[in-house]
Amino acid sequence: MSLMEKARNAFRAFLQIHGTRRIKKYVWDTEFTRGEWNNLQDTPDDCVYSYIGKYSSKGNILDLGCGSGNTGSELDVAAYQDYTGVDISDVAVSKAKTRAELNGRTDKNHYSQSDIFSYVPTQQFDVILLRDCIYYIPLAKVAAMLDRYSNYLKEGGVFIVRIWSVSDKYKAFVDIIESFCDIVEKYSYGQPEMMVIIFRQRRNHLPSAR
Ligand SMILES: C[S@@+](CC[C@H](N)C(=O)[O-])C[C@H]1O[C@@H](n2cnc3c(N)ncnc32)[C@H](O)[C@@H]1O
Repeated sequence: MSLMEKARNAFRAFLQIHGTRRIKKYVWDTEFTRGEWNNLQDTPDDCVYSYIGKYSSKGNILDLGCGSGNTGSELDVAAYQDYTGVDISDVAVSKAKTRAELNGRTDKNHYSQSDIFSYVPTQQFDVILLRDCIYYIPLAKVAAMLDRYSNYLKEGGVFIVRIWSVSDKYKAFVDIIESFCDIVEKYSYGQPEMMVIIFRQRRNHLPSAR
């Protein structure tokens, strides 16, 4: 990769994390329109599905940063009652909706274009999923974000976070989760080390985002 490409990628990543809502949406819409995330559309064997199935107990799932619809359409349809996908990108949400229609899941799957920071759920969930998405939350805001969303977990509900590589800079996200939350289960695999981490808020420990 040339120096120019590296600089461009670093700038793009900075905007995706620290940009205004409008800038983040623009960057993600552009990338989904160009098909830059098409590689994430076909992941039927991903190990995260067995964990979502196990903890959703045929209940309700909230998928934050759902992308163009892999989870909502690849997850066993019998594994859940309803699924809500939220993404900042209109283009991603539109692709996810179309995919759910093609898969006959419009009665179970609902999608919403929104920033994770402003989205307000209208129900409680058994599982709140952040699949390859937590890195777009500024590190300093992760604990408060989890604190706010923990209000929308049912008693016994869990967060499931999938991180594609914990061997480099992303390990800091695992450290934050481990310092503020009770870990229920952790699975890691391969090189770079992919991780699925399942956890709940540690009562009276997370800072309040309200
Ligand atoms: C790498 S993609 C992963 C998509 C999907 N979860 C998957 O595993 O295929 C990250 C997704 O997070 C979304 N995203 C990033 N920042 C967001 C934010 N602040 N609010 C909502 N969605 C966001 C992007 O639009 C993108 O769809």
